[in-house]
Amino acid sequence: MSFAAGQGSGRGSGASPVRVALLGSGGSIGRQAVDVLARNSDAFRVVAIATGSQAGVLEEQARLLHPIAVALADGDAAARLDLPAGTELVGGADALESLATRPDVDLVVVATGGMVALRSVLAALDAGKIVATANKETLVAGGHLVMPLARRLAAGVAAAPGGATHPLASPLGWLRPIDSEHSAIWQCLVGERHAAVERLWLTASGGPFLDSSVADLATVTPERALRHPTWTMGAKITIDSATLANKGLEVIEARWLYDVAFPAISVVIHPQSVVHSAVQFVDGSLKAQLGTPDMRLPIQYALTYPDRLASPTPAVDLIAAGRLEFRAPDEDRFPALRIARAAGVSGPLASAALISADEVAVARFLDGSLDFNGIPRLLDAAVDRFGAGSPAEPSLEQLINLDIEVRRFAEAYP
Ligand SMILES: NC(=O)c1ccc[n+]([C@@H]2O[C@H](COP(=O)([O-])OP(=O)(O)OC[C@H]3O[C@@H](n4cnc5c(N)ncnc54)[C@H](OP(=O)(O)O)[C@@H]3O)[C@@H](O)[C@H]2O)c1
Repeated sequence: MSFAAGQGSGRGSGASPVRVALLGSGGSIGRQAVDVLARNSDAFRVVAIATGSQAGVLEEQARLLHPIAVALADGDAAARLDLPAGTELVGGADALESLATRPDVDLVVVATGGMVALRSVLAALDAGKIVATANKETLVAGGHLVMPLARRLAAGVAAAPGGATHPLASPLGWLRPIDSEHSAIWQCLVGERHAAVERLWLTASGGPFLDSSVADLATVTPERALRHPTWTMGAKITIDSATLANKGLEVIEARWLYDVAFPAISVVIHPQSVVHSAVQFVDGSLKAQLGTPDMRLPIQYALTYPDRLASPTPAVDLIAAGRLEFRAPDEDRFPALRIARAAGVSGPLASAALISADEVAVARFLDGSLDFNGIPRLLDAAVDRFGAGSPAEPSLEQLINLDIEVRRFAEAYP
């Protein structure tokens, strides 16, 4: 991608709209991304959208956004799609990749779960697209593949005349986090030097069972676990928040995004979910980003960086918030946090095994074939079994094969 002055998102004044492909448009993040994009239709032109199985939602989104191309992974439902004139259906196993790498796309928003979009993310970066990702697997399993591409793109911009101070001269300009914690850290880091960073603080709400005993946790039902106290999200991430596995995945994500070593990444429980995360600097300063818990904010920041646009989300009312609490996480009651961090320290193979095992563990908890405390037990067993193998840095194909093997193991786990 070529870059021009004022093109960070690139929404510069007078700039033409940024052309967007949205993968996973029917999910929790996808629908909120559609809301942000539709509200800012002068700044963004949605060229392509894709979802998995929700034909009705895709049709509705196509009528709202008038994309040039759409994809639906469910082939039977795709055959019956009723699309507006001017919108074509792209089919086939590589539909996501072909949407993400279209020549008329500048920026790809990744809102799919699991590993399904990893190949497309790599292809998009390789083709010089900006990638804004909510998807954790992209970094947890594929950070060693993704970040070198983002660094290469940033280095290309930095080497151009006048490029060193351009927003795209940083890997974060190309691989943009949507996860609220990582967006917060990104926002705190703008204008700061890497050498000045001492510690990253990831905040965690603690989920619905923050004060439950280990015995209580054994009796947790899916219905109770799906009731998150502060955020409304997809089912998988809501269960991950309840076990704190999600925070462990976020530690790994942060390690890749910000190039900070694991011992310098801390987790702090903050039940109000107002402080989205913080950065501690060598002079003892702590910078935090605060906001109403609404994913449309980090989605929008990833789209408009380095600019900010008005949003429908009200700012936090500090006086109404009154009191903000912080405390250390309890890794004895929530061992998934410790297991995930240890997997991250072990390396990409263990992190990838963790991700695949967790998908199955959460699905099994939801279908009643695994209890709540069984989730961390399964994660531990999978990381133990698959995490120490070789190669230490698996290729995309090796990651896909590992995913199949780990899933098989996790499905058969007692
Ligand atoms: N939700 C949040 O607030 C939040 C916050 C931070 C990070 N994240 C991360 O963001 C990612 C998405 O989370 P979510 O909660 O939005 O999940 P979700 O509600 O389950 O949505 C995932 C979407 O991906 C779509 N999809 C699945 N396979 C596909 C395929 N082959 N091609 C195209 N689309 C496909 C699904 O389509 P159908 O529904 O049409 O089948 C679904 O709409 C996860 O990695 C999560 O950890 C989420």
